[in-house]
Amino acid sequence: MCGIVGYIGYRDAYPIVIKGLHRLEYRGYDSAGVALIDKDIKVYKKAGKVSDLEEFAKGVNLHGTIGMGHTRWATHGAPSDRNSHPHSSGDRRLTIIHNGIIENYAVIKETLLAKGHIFLSDTDTEVLIHLVEDIQKETGLDLREAVRVALNKVVGAYAIVIMSSDDPDQLIAARKGSPLVIGVGEGEYFIASDATPIVEYTKNVIYLNDNEIAYIRRNDLLIKNIDNTVQTPYIHELDLKLEMLEKGGYDHFMLKEIYEQPRSIRDCMRGRIYPKIGKVQLGGIKEYTEKLKNVDRIIIVACGTSWHAGLVGEYLIEEYARVPVEVEYASEFRYRNPIITEKDLVIAISQSGETADTMAAIELAKEKGATIFGVCNVVGASIPRITHAGVYTHAGPEIGVASTKAFTAQVTVLTLIAFYIAQQRGTITQSKLIELLTELNEIPELVEKALGSNEHVQQIAEKFKDSRNCLFLGRGSSFPVALEGALKLKEISYIHAEGYPAAEMKHGPIALIDEEMPVVFIATKHSSYEKVISNIQEVKARKGKVIAIVTEGDTDVKAMADYVVEIPQTDEAFVPLLATIPLQLISYHIAVMRGCNVDQPRNLAKSVTVE
Ligand code: AGP
Repeated sequence: MCGIVGYIGYRDAYPIVIKGLHRLEYRGYDSAGVALIDKDIKVYKKAGKVSDLEEFAKGVNLHGTIGMGHTRWATHGAPSDRNSHPHSSGDRRLTIIHNGIIENYAVIKETLLAKGHIFLSDTDTEVLIHLVEDIQKETGLDLREAVRVALNKVVGAYAIVIMSSDDPDQLIAARKGSPLVIGVGEGEYFIASDATPIVEYTKNVIYLNDNEIAYIRRNDLLIKNIDNTVQTPYIHELDLKLEMLEKGGYDHFMLKEIYEQPRSIRDCMRGRIYPKIGKVQLGGIKEYTEKLKNVDRIIIVACGTSWHAGLVGEYLIEEYARVPVEVEYASEFRYRNPIITEKDLVIAISQSGETADTMAAIELAKEKGATIFGVCNVVGASIPRITHAGVYTHAGPEIGVASTKAFTAQVTVLTLIAFYIAQQRGTITQSKLIELLTELNEIPELVEKALGSNEHVQQIAEKFKDSRNCLFLGRGSSFPVALEGALKLKEISYIHAEGYPAAEMKHGPIALIDEEMPVVFIATKHSSYEKVISNIQEVKARKGKVIAIVTEGDTDVKAMADYVVEIPQTDEAFVPLLATIPLQLISYHIAVMRGCNVDQPRNLAKSVTVE
């Protein structure tokens, strides 16, 4: 939710900031702005994409070796020029960019209005910079101290960068609940919501912690916490390559990421599975082996696609490790009074590692004494840093807002966790584990094969691109795949879609079926095959149009479905990894045919750092 970039050094700041904003546009894209210091502060901002801002700023003075920029996902105030960041203090000395929400902004605004402050936007952010100005005016404090005092007064989440024309050799950055990374160069520093705008300039980064404030000059960095204690930062080395952030010849990041899945699944398994001896090794959680042997219950918390992966994990963990699993929407879990004990293991799944609700659910479970594992993709993000242990998915940066390779990597990690726990608890035989791991090892090749259906899927997409609704049905672990298929279609093509357990159709959704309604079935030759065939017949009897994902060589479903897409034969445990592929492709092609913005669908942002 909102991307922020800052630069202080010896180079021109504008190109660095703009390039960084393009990299962070996945976080929000309804308006953008920059501020540069060249003697005084210049602010350029505009509703629309970063490219609209670039167009707007053509021909103006863009000089300055200190700068910052923002790409917005609106929370307070509609997307508009005036609500775009940066925002300035009343006297124009101070300028701020902000990611997050100041929850008590209304109360603060009222007090400031009474003192005569005039606001030019509807945002909570502008209130914060006026508060800093007000504190300076009332107390005579210097900027560093005034920012610290102001941050002690606000409730909510923030990552901010502030610049001042009084002290044009300084940027002040702070975080609480929203990510912020500082890139450390020679005589220059970079600030960003994630490391992607930084990686081409330096590999050395500091992940700012919650409640820390960084005072940054060209040759000096001081980090203090909000209570004014000096902190010793740890410099991490980035393991990120520039080409991972480019489209690499594909029309969209989403398509590139769909095609990366054979590689991302392989990377996710590398060094973790030993098929010949039937062993799974997960270094990130190995200290918790005893806990896993005795665990009574596992609770999975996540949002969106990650929640769907959690549902697949539930099937696998219960099937192989025989531990009861509950899968919870993080946003619901955190506001209930859930029964959690020290015996519980909570697994938090998040691609970004920054989702606000998932983080809050973790904090709640931690307070109640549970052990928390994280399954995250972004290395160094907040969730891996607040969990006790975890397993990274290693899918590489996912830039398309619609999650694809992160989902299959999450499912792969959960498969490994299920086998790992089963191995520790002795609920799986060695020979079965050898058999399963041998097959799992083949999955990247089978995903490659499943991608071979692309052209055929594109032809099917052509037939259904004008549909207004769509149903996705599956049983067992194909039910979460159906949910994920429906979510993909909704989010990128704006077609209303629902995922259901196939058997539930008769309890309501069947009323929707007519000759206009496409129904996508996951109908592979596994335990519920015959039952799914009956459900397909029920749809056909009501003239629905059936698109079925089937095991290669299937003839029964082929005889009754309108269209089939084959996926390679595999063990039932791994069907989600293959059946997801044609569903991703169908949504992608429909969205392209409808002229939708595939990588940046309307109203969405990649990481939801507000609740
Ligand atoms: C998936 O396509 C979505 N963009 C969204 O549902 C996403 O999975 C959800 O916001 C959770 O994000 P996270 O995995 O980064 O926590």
